[in-house]
Amino acid sequence: MTELAGKRIVLGVTGGIAAYKAAELVRLLGKAGAEVHVVMTENGARFVTPLTFQALSGHPVWLDPWDDRRANNMSHIDLSRSADALLIVPASANTLAKLANGIADDLLSTLCLARDCPLLVAPAMNRQMWHNPATQRNVAQLRADGIEILGPDSGSQACGEVGEGRMMEPEAIREALIGFFQPKLLAGKTVVMTAGPTYEPIDPVRGITNISSGKMGYALARACAQAGARVQLVSGPVALEVPHGVECISVHTAQEMYQAVMQRVGAAQVFIGVAAVADFRPRQSAENKIKKTAGQAPVIELDLNPDILAEVASLPAAPFCVGFAAESQDLDSYAEQKRSRKRLPLVVGNLVQDGMGGDENTVILYDDAGRHPLPRAPKSIVSQGIVAHLATLLAQDEAKH
Ligand code: PMT
Repeated sequence: MTELAGKRIVLGVTGGIAAYKAAELVRLLGKAGAEVHVVMTENGARFVTPLTFQALSGHPVWLDPWDDRRANNMSHIDLSRSADALLIVPASANTLAKLANGIADDLLSTLCLARDCPLLVAPAMNRQMWHNPATQRNVAQLRADGIEILGPDSGSQACGEVGEGRMMEPEAIREALIGFFQPKLLAGKTVVMTAGPTYEPIDPVRGITNISSGKMGYALARACAQAGARVQLVSGPVALEVPHGVECISVHTAQEMYQAVMQRVGAAQVFIGVAAVADFRPRQSAENKIKKTAGQAPVIELDLNPDILAEVASLPAAPFCVGFAAESQDLDSYAEQKRSRKRLPLVVGNLVQDGMGGDENTVILYDDAGRHPLPRAPKSIVSQGIVAHLATLLAQDEAKH
């Protein structure tokens, strides 16, 4: 199962150098399970050929309002009728102006006017064009008309200038689109989370850590953000992109993670501990690299690290706490023990051999009502299941207090 399975997207490509990124987006949307149909403006087709989009989407590309490939000659109606969303990437200043004023002088703008599905646009233009009062007026009008504006980002631009107007990256647009279809189960909530491993230094080049990749925590952070939450992700060292819309606080050691969590959790309604926190740290971290002495292994003394989840759960005004339990055997009994010892309303249990490092996971949710297994799936899909369950329990909890 994939995040956009069963979704039919009409992708409009207008004239701008960022049109080349739309080609990558078609690939990403297809990988996420969407069926993509591309409509180009004449100017869009000057930057990238329709053939490129046809090859990537596997469907004919539409340009001409008089195209007679549809028997009824109504491609402007037919294409949008069966679409779950219309997405314009890149959206030029000219296209935004036409949409804001209801102008329909080519297939794409006519399609937008005739649509009965949501419209999302990712503007891309020179920073001065973006800041021009006319463009800003048009964008405000589009927002008022219920059109979703994705970005733009700030950064270096094709014209050599630096500023706002750069198109959001295809990966971020894909995430935003997936989020668009998600129910906003956590709207108005702040979620503080931990993810990844921690790293406890022995000396400047060695340390104690574990093989957590951070994939489960990052997928869950993304799912919470897509469900409408404000997400603050306290992350150990991982090699992952921060999910779109998530605030990431990078740390190394368990003590740094503990401090970063405690500084933020007071304002949160939910805390989720996904990190594989090192339970112990070397009592001392050597200033210089420990030298090898022939025939003699160094003895490293360890101290206990704080149990972040237990500390948060025992706060006087504790947020709704979700713990993870990674076990190599007897998952049910160990997960339940962790749940009752730390007095957690929800524990997500997984076997280390199932969930650590890989892209998929098999989890069981443990709460007061018992155990709720979720089917094995990519971590992104598993995360949606966890968010749905968490949102139901949170609503019940809030109703009680
Ligand atoms: O990162 P991935 O490669 O995607 O792998 C995902 C995962 C297997 C790491 C993840 O799904 C998971 O199970 N995370 C919890 C791992 C763990 O350390 O579990 P634990 O049983 O040791 O800890 C129980 C709970 O207490 C966890 O929520 C943990 O974050 C928290 N904890 C533990 C120790 C500590 N000092 N502080 C904590 O907050």
